[in-house]
Amino acid sequence: MSLPKRVVLVGPMGAGKSTIGRMLAKELGYRFLDSDRIIEERCGANIPWIFDVEGEDGFRQRETAMLDELTGEQGTVLATGGGAVMRPENHPLLKKNSVVVYLKTSIEQQVERTRKDRNRPLLQNDDPEAVLRRLFDIRDPLYTRLADIVMYTDRKSPRLVVRQLVNRINPRTPRHKRQRRKEGRDYAQGTSRT
Ligand code: S3P
Repeated sequence: MSLPKRVVLVGPMGAGKSTIGRMLAKELGYRFLDSDRIIEERCGANIPWIFDVEGEDGFRQRETAMLDELTGEQGTVLATGGGAVMRPENHPLLKKNSVVVYLKTSIEQQVERTRKDRNRPLLQNDDPEAVLRRLFDIRDPLYTRLADIVMYTDRKSPRLVVRQLVNRINPRTPRHKRQRRKEGRDYAQGTSRT
């Protein structure tokens, strides 16, 4: 299998899309793009401000335009916002020449990882856990349907997730080849543990 033109990460808030995306891009020798961060840069304002002033609908319009632009680029790992799957017109953009990875994460982990966050307007209320549960019920089937790879992230370090992803996406990256050669040497010298 040759490398895909693009890897697109989808999944809920707190799934680790940005952290894992940045590490994965490095590993594949790709450029990392974070849709939310680029929207903020272009807009000169953060996401809570955009939600405040333009409403969620305004943000979703910006998001669709950004996905349209960013999915024109090749050799990239693209981290999307958790709600990017909500607009059907985004689906062909996300799928186009891409391997779509769903970073699947339990509600408990999502709650834990977003607990102190003030940059996610949908969670600034009395019961963020209830919101995350409601969003999960709506969005999980969409993430799953779009995904080429579903990767569970609970109880895994970002490093482990990235290693497993690289093996799924392209088992012949330089690092993987080196690892295979080393395993071969260990085996020949009788030091292999497998
Ligand atoms: C959203 C997720 C956020 C951001 C915005 C809306 C959502 O991105 O796009 O606050 O609807 O789930 P992250 O998933 O990167 O937190």
